[in-house]
Amino acid sequence: MQPVTVQTMYTLLKLPRHHAPLKTVKKMLRMSQVTNNVCKRNLSSQNVFDREDKFGAHNYHPLPAALCKAEGVYMWDVEGRRYYDFLSAYSAVNQGHCHPKIVKALIDQASVLTLVSRAFYSDVLGEYEEFATKLFGYDKLLPMNTGVEGGETACKLARKWGYAKKKIPENQAKIIFANGNFWGRTLAAVSSSTDPSSYSGFGPFMPGFQLVPYNDLEALEEALKDANVCAFMVEPIQGEAGVVVPDDGYLKQVRRLCTQYNVLWICDEVQTGLCRTGKLLCCDHEGVRPDILVLGKALSGGVYPVSAVLANDDIMLCIKPGEHGSTYGGNPLGCKVAVAALSVLIEENLAENAEKMGQLLRKELSLLPKDVVSIVRGKGLLNAVVINKDFDAWEVCLKLKENGLLAKPTHGDIIRFAPPLVINEEQMKECIKIIKDTILSFKK
Ligand SMILES: Cc1ncc(COP(=O)(O)O)c(C=O)c1O
Repeated sequence: MQPVTVQTMYTLLKLPRHHAPLKTVKKMLRMSQVTNNVCKRNLSSQNVFDREDKFGAHNYHPLPAALCKAEGVYMWDVEGRRYYDFLSAYSAVNQGHCHPKIVKALIDQASVLTLVSRAFYSDVLGEYEEFATKLFGYDKLLPMNTGVEGGETACKLARKWGYAKKKIPENQAKIIFANGNFWGRTLAAVSSSTDPSSYSGFGPFMPGFQLVPYNDLEALEEALKDANVCAFMVEPIQGEAGVVVPDDGYLKQVRRLCTQYNVLWICDEVQTGLCRTGKLLCCDHEGVRPDILVLGKALSGGVYPVSAVLANDDIMLCIKPGEHGSTYGGNPLGCKVAVAALSVLIEENLAENAEKMGQLLRKELSLLPKDVVSIVRGKGLLNAVVINKDFDAWEVCLKLKENGLLAKPTHGDIIRFAPPLVINEEQMKECIKIIKDTILSFKK
C-alpha cells in the first residue's frame, strides 16, 4: 500500500486556512510514527503531560505515567520504564494487553468488513450473538459500544417491559439503584449517582430513579413494594465505589425479592464480569441469574469498545425496530473482537487464575500492619486496600509507580489492585513485594 504523504493528505482534506500549516502537520505526523510496536516518539514524559494538559479537556486527573506500549501485564512509558499494570484499564484488559488472538481478530476483520449500517445484515453479528447468548444462557443480545450505553439500554428495556408487561401507567415507571453505584457519565447515569463529583452541576436529572442503600435487603424490599417499580439495577461488587463487596447471600436475596415483586433485576457486570472476580460472572458466585445482564469493558479485551445487554425474549422483544440502537453497535469489527475476547477468557482459564492469584494477593496484603492498611477486600482479581488516613493514597500510588507498579487511588484512601487476569504466580509475588515494600516505606 502506498503511504499517504502529508502533501496528498493535506490536499485531499482541503484543509482551510485556520488549520495548522503544512510544516506543523508534517512534524506532528513524524512524531506520532510508531514502528515495530516499539515506542519511537521523541517525547519525554513531561512533553506528554504538558501536551495533554494544554490541548485536552481536564476531565481526568491522571497519575504522571506517559505510556506508549503494553503487553500482557506490563506497560512501558516513553522513556522505556516498565510497569506492572494494576488497574487493567478499569478491568477492560482482563485478557492482558494486546492479546495476540484478539489483535489478530481485529486485524483480520478490519481488512474485510468493519461496519455495516444496521439497515442491513452482516455475516458476523449473528455469529457473535449466538456465541454470547449460548455462553451466558440468554435468548437474545443487544449490542452497544460502551458500558454506559449498556446500562442505558438496560434501563430503556426495563421501562418498556414495565409498560408493556407489568402494565405500569404511562411515564410512571421507576428504577431503583443502590447508593454508591457507578455506571458511567451520561446524564442518565449521573442522575442515579450519589457521588457529588459525578452529579454536581449537571442537573436537572432523570425522573423515575430512586435510591436505596447498597447491601440493605430490607430497604430494597420496601422500595420494590411500589407497583410502579420496573427494575432494580445493581453491581454485584461496587467497583468505582472502592470495591465494596456485599454480604454473602445478598445477590441470592436480590434475585428472590425481584421475582417476588415482579421487578426486573438488572445486573451491571461491566466491571465485575468476564472472569474478573474468579468466575465468568460475579453472579455465578451465588448461582443466580439476573433478568438483564449488562457487559462491557473486557468484552473486547481492551481492543475496541464493545458492550452488550442480554435478556430473554419476553423482555428483549419489548423493544421493536426503530426504538433503540447505535451506529456502531454490533459492527463486524467489534463482534469479531468480542468473540475472540470471550474465547480467550475460556481457553486460558482466566477465571481460575483470577481466583488463585486473588487469594494469594489478599492473603499477603492482609499481613500488612493494620495501622497502615486497615482493610483488604475483594474477590478474584478485583481488590482494594484502604490506606490509613495518616497516609496519602495518591503519594502511595506515586511511590508504587516509582517502584514499577501502576495503580490509582479512588475516594481518597482506597487503592484498587486489579491486574490483568493473565498474571502468573511469579509476577504476582514480585508485585506483592513491590506493594508491601512501598506501603511499609510510609510507616514512620
Ligand atoms: C460497573 C460499571 N458500569 C458501567 C461503567 C461504564 O462503562 P464505560 O466507561 O465503558 O461507559 C463502568 C465504568 O467504569 C462500570 O464500572
